[in-house]
Amino acid sequence: METEGKPLSPNPLPPGAVLQGGGGFSEWARARRALRPPYPFASMAGIRFEHVSKLFPGAARAAVEDCSFAVADGSFVVLLGPSGCGKTTLLKMVNRLVEPTAGTIYLQDTDIRQIRATELRRQIGYVIQQIGLFPHMTVAQNVSVVPNLLKWPAAKTQARVDELLALVDLPPAEYRERYPGQMSGGQRQRVGVARALAGDPQVILMDEPFGAVDAITRSGLQEEMLHLQRKLKKTILFVTHDVEEALRLADKIVVMRAGRIVQYDTPFAILSQPANEFVYQLVGADDMVRQLGLVRVESAMLPLPAGASADLAHKIGREDTLRQALSLLLRSAADGLAVVENGVPVGWVTLESIRRAGEARE
Ligand SMILES: Nc1ncnc2c1ncn2[C@@H]1O[C@H](COP(=O)(O)OP(=O)(O)OP(=O)(O)O)[C@@H](O)[C@H]1O
Ligand SMILES: [Mg+2]
Repeated sequence: METEGKPLSPNPLPPGAVLQGGGGFSEWARARRALRPPYPFASMAGIRFEHVSKLFPGAARAAVEDCSFAVADGSFVVLLGPSGCGKTTLLKMVNRLVEPTAGTIYLQDTDIRQIRATELRRQIGYVIQQIGLFPHMTVAQNVSVVPNLLKWPAAKTQARVDELLALVDLPPAEYRERYPGQMSGGQRQRVGVARALAGDPQVILMDEPFGAVDAITRSGLQEEMLHLQRKLKKTILFVTHDVEEALRLADKIVVMRAGRIVQYDTPFAILSQPANEFVYQLVGADDMVRQLGLVRVESAMLPLPAGASADLAHKIGREDTLRQALSLLLRSAADGLAVVENGVPVGWVTLESIRRAGEARE
């Protein structure tokens, strides 16, 4: 991922800060570590909202009210809440289809008002509610919209179209020349995803992209989305009112109600520490064991200590669920499980870490 290789800024100390004692490099390194945020990407926000509000003209109350949060670069954040709570409005403010009435949105630390709207939209992939493919254009033409705006040479665009169709599991030779009306709902959704990825934007906004398909197709699309994200590491802001979808896909969830943010945390923390009765009811926290069947192990995973090889006898896949982890821990009476990805240990979980994961939050 891009952020992993990024050097810290040469001097991370705030302006005016002075290191005491002239302790040389080790002192400097210690201070530098102390300044590092607790979450690895927290200082490298892909998208940051600061006190953002939107009051539509003539409306009795704000559609979005005083929302502040950051979507870390490369992370998958889901906006979750009931119909009319302001999810679409909040999303559309990122590519300036709606302008806030108060507050500021930053994209990679730049106030988006400093970027021309057309330029901004070229940098951001967008999958709108109800798919929004152009019905009179073929699949290839739909996917080429942004590459054409960017004036890519035809050969490059065509290669990109084929690459993306293959990526979303639509064999290009079969689907390239089809029209949206000749495809199923699930296939159209995939074209929508391919189109959003076409210009290779780092940031993608998705508004209920899987809203119009049956439950089985939907869970297949979610599965693909997770694999895509693991590969591409985009910064994704994804809207849904489907709790299971949110728990399954999100690195972090923004729970919204009546224009306001009620809670912003990982799926597991939201289940185990709901901020109030509304969140508790919304996410079905009363049936936590069932809901943990949707949450990935990595949500409660501890990092491997440096140099550790995690020679734990019991293993669980990174993308397995916490419910599977809990069953295995209880059944085997093991102290902990090694979390493996492609056979390589990447972390570990214990009953205690699962219990604690919901507590030590900012
Ligand atoms: N262009 C507009 N003019 C006036 N009011 C609007 C406009 N767009 C949205 N609203 C109002 O703002 C509020 C939030 O709407 P929004 O579309 O953001 O909700 P949502 O959370 O996306 O809902 P859903 O899940 O149904 O898509 C609603 O009360 C809606 O009626
Ligand atoms: Mg909406």
